[in-house]
Amino acid sequence: MGIKIIGSGHCVPATKLSNRHLESIVDTTDEWIFTRTGISSRYLVTTEDTNDLAYGAARCAIESAAIDPTEIGLIIVATFTPEQLTPSTACLVQARLGLNQQPVIAFDMNAACTGFVYALVTAEQFLKSSKIKKALVIGAEVLSKIMDWNDRSTCVLFGDGAGAVVIEWDEVDSPSFYLNCEGDGDVLGTSKLPVNNPLHQTGTSPISFHMNGASVFKFAVTAIKETVTTLLMENNLTLEEIDLIIPHQANKRIIDKVVKDLNASPEQFFLNVSEYGNTSAASIPIALNEAIKKQRIKAGNRVMLVGFGGGLTWGGCIVSI
Ligand code: UT7
Repeated sequence: MGIKIIGSGHCVPATKLSNRHLESIVDTTDEWIFTRTGISSRYLVTTEDTNDLAYGAARCAIESAAIDPTEIGLIIVATFTPEQLTPSTACLVQARLGLNQQPVIAFDMNAACTGFVYALVTAEQFLKSSKIKKALVIGAEVLSKIMDWNDRSTCVLFGDGAGAVVIEWDEVDSPSFYLNCEGDGDVLGTSKLPVNNPLHQTGTSPISFHMNGASVFKFAVTAIKETVTTLLMENNLTLEEIDLIIPHQANKRIIDKVVKDLNASPEQFFLNVSEYGNTSAASIPIALNEAIKKQRIKAGNRVMLVGFGGGLTWGGCIVSI
């Protein structure tokens, strides 16, 4: 890819909810959740909202890049659970970073759990074709506000959080991404936004999330394998030449199946779903930041990011660190 990640950070709510704690809220067990998904806990907001988490992750990423925030010319936030429909989370982050007095392009993107990869590839196009030198790309979600807390088959899987990277143009590498989608609202999605105008009323139920778990599982395995093999083929690379693959963190069993089908080594796939649950667009940048902090990725490494989710959307990219 023609970009280099020069800083990363993440931010989660102060409150961590373990599976055991969840047993007192939902008709479930630690054993069911862990054996089916590999998830042990997740963070849920109390007083925080999407824009707080996005800003927290942005601050960490800027600090780790050791740049002045004024060097940033583009902010993209991948989210489908913003605090409000407008202003965008990206504009709110711009203001909190004190960048309102300079030209900045800022907008949110929605590609559900593939959002961060879509946003990173979009940011790359700006860096390639404009005078913008550095961009801030964030994935931020507060999924707990759209969960149906009576649906134990979905609410136990998700968590809240945000991750961010600062990127700059890297002339050395060639562009390398693969994005795809297949419009389908049945397998995974939210309820519709109500229309309540003087001529037509569709009710006032809160937005809620629904998913066909088994279908999503099958889709996810196929999408990851398609993305990995396409990226390797198009770049004349083998799996061994990728230092680490960071997949969207949805379920350990999905990754186990991919590892088996691709005849890969489990160590090649970074996993932290155990602590965070599925944080949708935030999962890849949170995992990326942890992998860097834990030194699973070092300067000069070639890393593949792979996302899949609502839309249906999927895809990935190869980045240098
Ligand atoms: O970003 C993408 C997001 N989506 C995903 O990653 C989802 C992918 N799919 C999955 O991860 C799995 O399909 C699930 C974890 C959601 C479900 O696992 P499963 O092995 O496919 O279980 P199931 O849906 O077949 O349910 C098995 C049983 C059912 O009981 P019966 O009908 O067999 O008696 C469910 O009612 O497990 C029951 N069940 C639960 N039991 C305890 C469903 N949810 C729970 C729960 N606790 N939380």
